[in-house]
Amino acid sequence: MLKQHFTEPVSAPLIDRPLDERHLRTALGRFVTGVTVITTQTPEGKLEGLTANSFSAVSLEPPLVLWSLRDTASSLRSFQSSDHFAVNVLGARQAVLAQHFAQRRDDKFKNIVHVPGLAGCPLLLGALATFECSRETTVTSGDHLVFFGRIRRASYRDGEPLTFSAGRYGTHQLLE
Ligand SMILES: Cc1cc2nc3c(=O)[nH]c(=O)nc-3n(C[C@H](O)[C@H](O)[C@H](O)COP(=O)(O)O)c2cc1C
Repeated sequence: MLKQHFTEPVSAPLIDRPLDERHLRTALGRFVTGVTVITTQTPEGKLEGLTANSFSAVSLEPPLVLWSLRDTASSLRSFQSSDHFAVNVLGARQAVLAQHFAQRRDDKFKNIVHVPGLAGCPLLLGALATFECSRETTVTSGDHLVFFGRIRRASYRDGEPLTFSAGRYGTHQLLE
């Protein structure tokens, strides 16, 4: 059974080109991720949020997570000035929210149903899970700033996750 699995012919040729941004992005896109909207409220009361698939669990004890923000993001200063952020894990029916929060605009929370969480970080209605975090540390790495957070509150509901792979939204399909 196992042998048969390993000897099955691969379905597509391997593309192994010199490393440029396009090739890198395409290769990275083969790694399927979930989709989150990371939110915060600045000390001045401004709400920020952006779509991010760089979210990852780091540690259970203590409960730590990370995500990374491009250094050209318009929300960079806001996230740097806030000591909390919230991670909203999107469900399969929330691709519109993912598209919305992936745009650079000032009024991102207009017409978006949300409630204030810890330190005022917006929690989006219908998210599959939310992690309310205090900022633990940040690390500059290449063209991104990596935020580490300590989970202070976590909640979830049953439902199908929104996924992102090869530049497209989808959802999870179980094998048999
Ligand atoms: C599926 C998806 C995942 C993304 N993940 C990230 C991410 O992890 N980090 C990041 O900086 N930008 C990410 N982006 C891009 C930001 O959402 C986008 O640049 C957004 O405009 C940034 O918000 P801002 O302009 O308010 O800072 C992602 C976009 C999409 C569509």
